[in-house]
Amino acid sequence: MYRMEIETINTLVSGEMYYADLRTKLLLNQNKPAIININIGTTFKGAIDDIDSIVQALEYCGYSNDKYYIHCDAALYGLIVSFIKHKPIGSISVSGHKFLGCPIPFGIQMTRKSNVNSLSNIEYIASADMTISGSRNGLAPIFLWYSLSMKGYVGLWQDSKMCIENSQYLKDQLLKEGISVMLNEFSTTVVFERPCDHKFISHWKLCYLSGIAHIVVMSGITREIIDSFLKDLMQERKK
Ligand SMILES: Cc1ncc(COP(=O)(O)O)c(C=O)c1O
Repeated sequence: MYRMEIETINTLVSGEMYYADLRTKLLLNQNKPAIININIGTTFKGAIDDIDSIVQALEYCGYSNDKYYIHCDAALYGLIVSFIKHKPIGSISVSGHKFLGCPIPFGIQMTRKSNVNSLSNIEYIASADMTISGSRNGLAPIFLWYSLSMKGYVGLWQDSKMCIENSQYLKDQLLKEGISVMLNEFSTTVVFERPCDHKFISHWKLCYLSGIAHIVVMSGITREIIDSFLKDLMQERKK
């Protein structure tokens, strides 16, 4: 959208950023400032990038504070991993329809006040325009407010804890059955060997990428659902 040059950084098998590759690409572009997009939960493997390692790479490559900007894409885990205190990030975005389960797709972007102040004040709405298109959905913030108010801090913490415990349970059960499985730290995305049967994949609406599939354990994924899935999976594997 901004017609900017882009460098794609390689990742480790876990899905996390490969910091050595970040260094290489930073060194290749040393004459330009960098906008770094960090993932707090990659789409397929639920990997979480380490902000400290990224800042270290920037410092190592000679990037001073005013030469970089960090945005955290926390679409999925923004409400699970709330750890970004005192980190030199510029902004973070979180989806409202993922972990919170709001009924329409939307996201919230939070940034430093210093960035917002530079936006123009629009006289006829008596407010600063913070949108790309100049237009906004008024209902989405109400869903977000309602959802956060109903759950509260404790409710969100309980949901996060339950999702993390249930994903660990799913991982352990898969391992017990001798199925290869991966679960990143603080993640609720369980990655495992892709089942062979297409009917099974379609029945459970499994997402897959060549040989691997994943289950994102959200608060609606109860132990009962996990057990029922496991039972079905074992039957499919026997076949
Ligand atoms: C890491 C990541 N970023 C962004 C998105 C898109 O978020 P949204 O649906 O709020 O546009 C996704 C969706 O799956 C995602 O996994």
